[in-house]
Amino acid sequence: MSNTKKMEGLLNHRLKMVASFIRKGCSMIDVGCDHALLDIYLASIYKDIKIIASDNKKGPLEGASQNIKKYHLEDRIHLKLGNGIEPIEEGVDTIVISGMGGLNMIGILKYQTELLLNVQTIILSPNSDTEKVRKEITRLGYKIENEQLVKEKNIIYPVLVFTKGKRHYSRQEYLFGPILLERKDSLFLEYMESQKALKKKLLEILPKKYIQRRMELKRELKIIEKNL
Ligand SMILES: C[S@@+](CC[C@H](N)C(=O)[O-])C[C@H]1O[C@@H](n2cnc3c(N)ncnc32)[C@H](O)[C@@H]1O
Repeated sequence: MSNTKKMEGLLNHRLKMVASFIRKGCSMIDVGCDHALLDIYLASIYKDIKIIASDNKKGPLEGASQNIKKYHLEDRIHLKLGNGIEPIEEGVDTIVISGMGGLNMIGILKYQTELLLNVQTIILSPNSDTEKVRKEITRLGYKIENEQLVKEKNIIYPVLVFTKGKRHYSRQEYLFGPILLERKDSLFLEYMESQKALKKKLLEILPKKYIQRRMELKRELKIIEKNL
């Protein structure tokens, strides 16, 4: 078995998808690295990549440190304790954040824009609020370069790749993704079906007094119907 295949075994489907978007010669920070398995995989397969693995909690960083030692990668992965992108260093061109809520990701990126000056690529896999993530990150001067859905333990997650640049998107593109809408692969259609069921249920149980939210849900259901 090749080394790449062997190391790939460390990653779940979601982190494999995230890894597939990371350029081999980049200088990156993995915010909220937890176990640092993504970073161990990347450092093992790419000899030129520069990696900062950071987390805002000591517990995960201790686990990460043990994992990194196990693979003898202490001199390749720079572990740092810190909130959000605070541990970023000059020269970092890629930010990766996977496995936290979308609003947390937005907070991490939006309130320290001075640290984004040299950042060309932002790869995000949020657990929630994907529409807001697309909207807020494009407002920071990034466009959606690529996006892909991935199924992990029966939950469908997005992986979004932003690169520096300006582009405006429509409401339906922010909601369901400009590239996903164009590609319409089978997982996207499965995702749309589940969203349709979810929004229909919400509409059934949401009291009539929530006029605005009910209108939004109806509008979103129309967009889903149009794209199925
Ligand atoms: C569920 S884990 C995700 C681990 C890994 N990135 C993945 O996708 O499998 C989320 C990690 O983010 C860290 N975290 C949450 N908020 C953070 C913040 N503001 N700054 C840095 N790390 C944060 C948590 O401590 C936790 O280790």
